[in-house]
Amino acid sequence: MKIVLVAAIGENNVIGRDGQLPWRLKSDLAHFRKLTIDKPVVMGRKTFQSIGRALDRRTNIVITRDATFAAPGVLTAASFPAALDLARKDAVARGTDEIMIVGGSDIFAASLPLADRLEITHVRASPEGDVTFPPIDPTIWREVSRTEHAAGPQDDASFAVAAYLRR
Ligand SMILES: NC(=O)c1ccc[n+]([C@@H]2O[C@H](COP(=O)([O-])OP(=O)(O)OC[C@H]3O[C@@H](n4cnc5c(N)ncnc54)[C@H](OP(=O)(O)O)[C@@H]3O)[C@@H](O)[C@H]2O)c1
Repeated sequence: MKIVLVAAIGENNVIGRDGQLPWRLKSDLAHFRKLTIDKPVVMGRKTFQSIGRALDRRTNIVITRDATFAAPGVLTAASFPAALDLARKDAVARGTDEIMIVGGSDIFAASLPLADRLEITHVRASPEGDVTFPPIDPTIWREVSRTEHAAGPQDDASFAVAAYLRR
């Protein structure tokens, strides 16, 4: 089973501000959908609330310490290992070998040491923010692909989509 982190990161490592994304990047939302569709997606409770609903055609696994938390179309887990356990079972049932970790910062930090691949959108912006992605150590991660994208009509910035594998 592969653990894949999916994140959009500013040049200053910022990924969020005030519970929302710090940019508008419509093109990247389509890319995110393509990467995650028909797979289990694991996220922290705040990321789920920033999205505001369960993502369609994906098993949404939300990590929270709040035992009373519930939302339509969502499985909850009380810890990161419990979420991975649920995600592994779901991936097997779906016939996929990938678990997609989609944030936020606590969840990225907990999962980076276990990750097999990083799917990173490098946003050409340095917005103010209150949450960041952990540094991608080049002695551990090797970039295996990169595609540059000009900003589309509904994008705040240009960006590059890169994939990293463990060395
Ligand atoms: N740019 C990107 O790629 C990207 C991706 C995702 C999110 N974001 C942004 O990041 C921000 C949200 O991220 P965040 O870091 O603030 O929050 P988060 O990681 O999404 O959620 C944090 C919450 O998850 C639960 N949690 C975290 N670790 C846990 C653990 N080990 N055991 C049990 N529960 C745990 C807790 O929920 P309870 O408080 O309910 O117990 C905690 O308050 C937003 O601004 C969002 O837009 C950006």
